[in-house]
Amino acid sequence: MIVTTKKLFEAAYGKYAIGAYNINNLEQLMGLFRGNLDSKAPFIIQISKGARSYTNKIMLEGLIRSADQVFPDAIFAVHLDHGDEEACYDCINSGFYSSVMIDASGEDFENNIATTRRVVDAAHARGIVVEAELGQLGGVEEHVAVSEADAKLTDPEKAREFVERSGCDSLAVAIGTSHGAYKFSGTQGLRLDVLEQIQKRLPGFPLVMHGSSSVPQEEVQRINAAGGQLKGAKGVDENSFKRAAELGVTKVNIDTDGRLVWTRVHREYFLEHPENFDLRPVGKVFMGEYARFIASKNEKLGSAGHLDEVRKVLAG
Ligand code: G3H
Ligand code: 13P
Ligand code: ZN
Repeated sequence: MIVTTKKLFEAAYGKYAIGAYNINNLEQLMGLFRGNLDSKAPFIIQISKGARSYTNKIMLEGLIRSADQVFPDAIFAVHLDHGDEEACYDCINSGFYSSVMIDASGEDFENNIATTRRVVDAAHARGIVVEAELGQLGGVEEHVAVSEADAKLTDPEKAREFVERSGCDSLAVAIGTSHGAYKFSGTQGLRLDVLEQIQKRLPGFPLVMHGSSSVPQEEVQRINAAGGQLKGAKGVDENSFKRAAELGVTKVNIDTDGRLVWTRVHREYFLEHPENFDLRPVGKVFMGEYARFIASKNEKLGSAGHLDEVRKVLAG
């Protein structure tokens, strides 16, 4: 069943965070639905602009509609990840997405508000909810002075004003994470102190953590042992998710960790089966491993085990 992120956030706020997983293909979708049902968790399917153009946006929508039929017990939102204005309107008008992210974080404060407001008005008219972003994620290097690094993080006071004036339904905040497999160079780390300040100014308002893959070292070692070259890859400590949830984080974005599972499975499989050229045996291994990964991530997020409770809330 496809629902808005708003409904999921109402159920989760202050208690646990919902996993938002980036999806590109059939095998990921199968593993995603299985993993979430195995761990009894509500979840969010994230579709990036790149995912929409990887095959064809209609193809991806069709796969998700089919998954909804194949797995009728699943409860999930369909969300555009890092949209620009054009992509947001396309998704809003498609009638398929229940949630869009307008990422105007590269614009100045006033233009970010104005762009977000336009998308919010269009989305709300169709019953769709909007995630916006304030602050600049990642890319903070060791040589950057602390004051400069802090300048990229979300300013708590500005966050309050931004939410009030833009009308967004949830806010992605920059609290030290970055996208990809190479986070926290040098002494940088997750800034839960900044998150706490944001929550103080926006009590009860759903916050979103991007760039939240944990980049498990065992996964990196296995990839490298099978011919990969991921040097110095590092991620977010999964044990910080529950504290982040208490501080208002209701959505945690994960893409890189899933890519690492895909890479490890395929590298190891073909190293161990050099004679094989069939895509299905390795695809089956991947779907199983991806499902296990999703279920274990949901345990860390605290969303595991909440599916029936969410179903009851939705039933009213
Ligand atoms: O935040 C970006 C996500 O990891 C999606 O990545 O744009 O390569 O699909 P992508
Ligand atoms: P990771 O690269 O840490 O998985 O973050 C994904 C993300 O934020 C998608 O919007
Ligand atoms: Zn992101």
